[in-house]
Amino acid sequence: MKFSYDKLFENNKAWASRQTEQDPGYFSNMALGQNPEYLFIGCSDSRAPASVITGTRPGEIFEHRNISNLVISTDMNLMAVLQYSVDILKVKHIVVCGHYGCGGVKAALSKTHNGLIDNWLRSIRDVYRQYRKELDHLTSEEEKWRKLVELNVQEQVFRLSMTSIVQEALDRHQEIHLHGWVYEIENGLIRDLDLNIKRDFKDFDIYNCDHSHD
Ligand code: CO
Repeated sequence: MKFSYDKLFENNKAWASRQTEQDPGYFSNMALGQNPEYLFIGCSDSRAPASVITGTRPGEIFEHRNISNLVISTDMNLMAVLQYSVDILKVKHIVVCGHYGCGGVKAALSKTHNGLIDNWLRSIRDVYRQYRKELDHLTSEEEKWRKLVELNVQEQVFRLSMTSIVQEALDRHQEIHLHGWVYEIENGLIRDLDLNIKRDFKDFDIYNCDHSHD
């Protein structure tokens, strides 16, 4: 009996033999270790896989995905990924990549009950509350949804910049750049929100810790 997931194994075998054909040392080299330049924090959505949409190969992106690409400093999973990638792998770029059409963001905009996930989505509702004037000014639900997707990415980049891990890396002058991107499912293109921590988050200096005397 054939199961739908059998095709995944078939795909895998075909992919592995293609790689070996192109480069016989591909897997033995891969097994030596990883040295990715990017940490990608994306949404779990099946339509936005980091390596596919960025055309990168295994070994190039260290990746963490959760519903609506949230950065929550008490999330041990995310924080472990962040610390490992900054302190050990020394990634140079951290990207928070949201996407238009994000179901998590839409659910956060609605008043329906969704069970346990509402606890997770509350963090997006916090972003909504923070930018409520700007968002409620928009007349169509679609516009509001898109804007909240963007503001959510911006807010997560800000939260990322305030984590002890990023703060300490910046204090020791480690090269690290934070980026906020939004992926458009309808045309496959990624939009860079061109965020700049120093410029866009300058009013948030109350969160900064001065580590210079540590
Ligand atoms: Co999503």
